[in-house]
This record gives sequence, C-alpha cells and structure tokens, in this order.
Amino acid sequence: MINYNYKKGNLIFDDLNIKNITEEIETPFYCYSLNHLKDQYLSLDNSISLKDYEICYAVKSNSNQSIIKNFANMGSGADVVSIGEMKRALKANISPNKIVFSGVGKNSNEIKFALENDILMFNVESVSELKKISSEALLQSKKAPIAIRINPDISAGGNEKISTGKAQDKFGISWKEAYEVYEYASTLNGIEIKGIDAHIGSQINQLEPFSHSFDKLKEITSMLKNKGLKIDIIDVGGGLGVKYKENETPIDVKKYGELLSEKLGELDCKVIIEPGRFLTANAGILVTKILHIKKSDIKNFVIVDAGMNDFIRPTLYGAHHNIIPLKEPEKLENLKCDIVGPVCETGDFFAKDIDLNDINEDDFLAICSTGAYGSVQSSNYNTRASIDELLINNGEYEIIRKRINEDIIIDKDIISKWV
Ligand code: LLP
Repeated sequence: MINYNYKKGNLIFDDLNIKNITEEIETPFYCYSLNHLKDQYLSLDNSISLKDYEICYAVKSNSNQSIIKNFANMGSGADVVSIGEMKRALKANISPNKIVFSGVGKNSNEIKFALENDILMFNVESVSELKKISSEALLQSKKAPIAIRINPDISAGGNEKISTGKAQDKFGISWKEAYEVYEYASTLNGIEIKGIDAHIGSQINQLEPFSHSFDKLKEITSMLKNKGLKIDIIDVGGGLGVKYKENETPIDVKKYGELLSEKLGELDCKVIIEPGRFLTANAGILVTKILHIKKSDIKNFVIVDAGMNDFIRPTLYGAHHNIIPLKEPEKLENLKCDIVGPVCETGDFFAKDIDLNDINEDDFLAICSTGAYGSVQSSNYNTRASIDELLINNGEYEIIRKRINEDIIIDKDIISKWV
C-alpha cells in the first residue's frame, strides 16, 4: 500500500501536500514518489546475493522515461515487449546489452531494430519466431542471442488474465518440447543460444509457484548443459506481488532473494529478474476531483473526473485499489458509495460499496497503488485527454508527461475525401 499520512488535515505523499498540486495542475493526474521507486529497487537489489545477476525492469508496468531513467541510474536493465518500449528504454539510458526482448508477437521491424541495437537477448516464444530472428540476423551478418521461454505449466498470479505459465496460455514453449526446440535452434546459423527464460504470472503473493518455476528452469538448464548446449543466462521473469489492501501479505523480498540463491545459485549462470509491479505499483497515486455526489435509496454514487480510460484495472481485473480523500475527514459522516467516472459505461468504476467519511463535491480523492499498469493502460476512449504524470521528490514535483488534450487527439483524424 502507499506510504502516506495526514498533516494539518492534508494528505502528504513523499513529503508533499498533494492538495497544493491540484491548485496548479488540472485533475485527474498521476503522481509517482521517487523515493518509493528507489526504495523498492534497493530492497530487491539488496535481497539478492547471487554472484551474477541483472535486474531488468519490466518497462510495461510504467514506461515513463523518467521512471526508466531512475532505474537505469540505479544499474537496471530493461525487459521490453515492443519496439516502442525498446526505444523508450534506450532513450532513458538503458544500455542495449542490458535489454531483454520478450513477447509472443515480435514483428520483423522489431526484430531488425533489436538486432541493429545489439540487445542482450531475445526471449523466443515459438519456432516460427526463431526462424524469423535467424533470417534477419543473417541479413545483418550477425548471430542473434536468444533464450527460449519455456512454459512450465504452473498456475500463478493475481487472476486468470495475468497468469501466463499454464500449458493452455499463449506464452512460451512447453517445457516438454524444450530440448527439441533448443536442438533445432542450434542448427540455425543466425542464432546463438544464450539462455533460458520463464515468466509465470503477475501479482504473485506466494513463494511456491516461484519455487516450482525455478526448479523447472534448473532441471531443464542442467539437462541442456549435459547435452552440450551452452546456457549462460537464466531469466526468471517478473511477477512479485505487492500489497494493494490491508489483508494482503506479499512475499518478503528477502525470502525471494534466498530462493533465487537456493535454487539457481550453483548453476554458474547469470540470473535475470524482470520486476515491474513490485517496483512501481505503490509509488503511484491517481488524483481525481469529485464532480458530483448522486444519492438515492438504492445506491450512492460519487462521480469523479477520472474515468476507466485513465485507469482500467478495477473494471478489467476486478482489482482493489484503496481510495482516500486528500482532505482528512473531520466528521464521521459516512457515505456508502460507488466511486465512478464520467465514461458512458457501467464498468466505469474505481470502487464499489466503499465507506467514505465527510466528502463533498469539489473535494479530491487519491486512487492508491496506481503506479503500475495505470497510465500505461490508459486510452482516449470517449475522446478524453491523456492526463499528466508527475514525479514527486522530497516535497517537490515535476511534470514528467504532459497532458495530451482532446484537440490534439481530434486533429489526428483525417476527414475522408469520400464524405
Ligand atoms: N516479464 C514478462 C515477460 C511479463 O510478461 C511481465 C508482465 C513482467 C515481466 C512483469 O511482471 P510484474 O513483475 O509486473 O508482475 N496489466 C496487468 C499485469 C500484466 C502483466 C503482464 N506481464 C495488471 O494490471 O495487473
């Protein structure tokens, strides 16, 4: 959960009175605590005692270049899943030899760009992809460094939409076929086998699935090495969960570090970890203004100016996000309500049947833990603007992405000559 307190009745996040920002910046907006981002990175980094490892920040969780650059400054590499993320990572000073390129659907442009930039490795998800990477590498007179993403058939993750390691999921190559595919890869002239990879899901709050996945990776790595293949890198993916609500107990990151050493420490390989949410989720809040309060016998609605287009996790995954007022409640005047946005969909909500005290129209609310998979999953549905992103640091803030207002969006349309 986010780190906040109230001082003189106002919400303080990273030493900043957030209400002050609302006097200068139009709501809704995202803001991220630099201190929290740094603390999370350090806590993970300090928990790992492997001889050779790399943290490759999963850019998809929050791809703002200031966020990426902060992690680059701390020594991080990047896990990217598109040419866009790769360009962002490179612009934000991530060195190409610390970039891993994941994803089931890499297109030829993306493969070409990644090869031209000499990234650390491709995490390959199909034989078809392997062939295309090899052909492109030969055109560039290179050998493409690859790992095969295996699908270990393990169930893990916050919900089925973010579980990726089951046999029926689209990801990776069945662990049972791994050897065959590696053997085939070794016959391709444009391919250099570097490692092995797995990513089993996201928002994982138990060590057990990780333990199974690491066991599988270890077993297959040993088998491949015994057969004479060179495996230097084991990429264990991301997935570490965070605390979104009071009764949630995420994994103790120290235990995660110990597990890595216990399971993979003796293999003489570099280990790559691809955390996203763990680093960014609780660094962020989405600040929104109450536009209207609509009461009835059946239900009360607090209508805010942020919509599902700005933050889609509650409706897409049924995700819980705490919602707190920027003004500390003075009276115990409880309102049981749904917090909803202005978008014309019943699914446009942030919380259902929650209790808020002493709230009024024109007050502000913070939707908590929105630093991961928040802004990056936003859209312009209903021709709504893309909102500002701010970075806060010891009581100050800076805009790190400017609002893209509706006029710019509208101007992208081209009126057809046929109408
Ligand atoms: N590596 C790979 C290959 C991934 O697919 C992902 C996330 C990560 C690393 C980072 O996982 P994390 O450490 O953040 O759990 N939009 C969803 C989450 C989708 C995760 C997709 N892959 C949500 O809002 O919950």
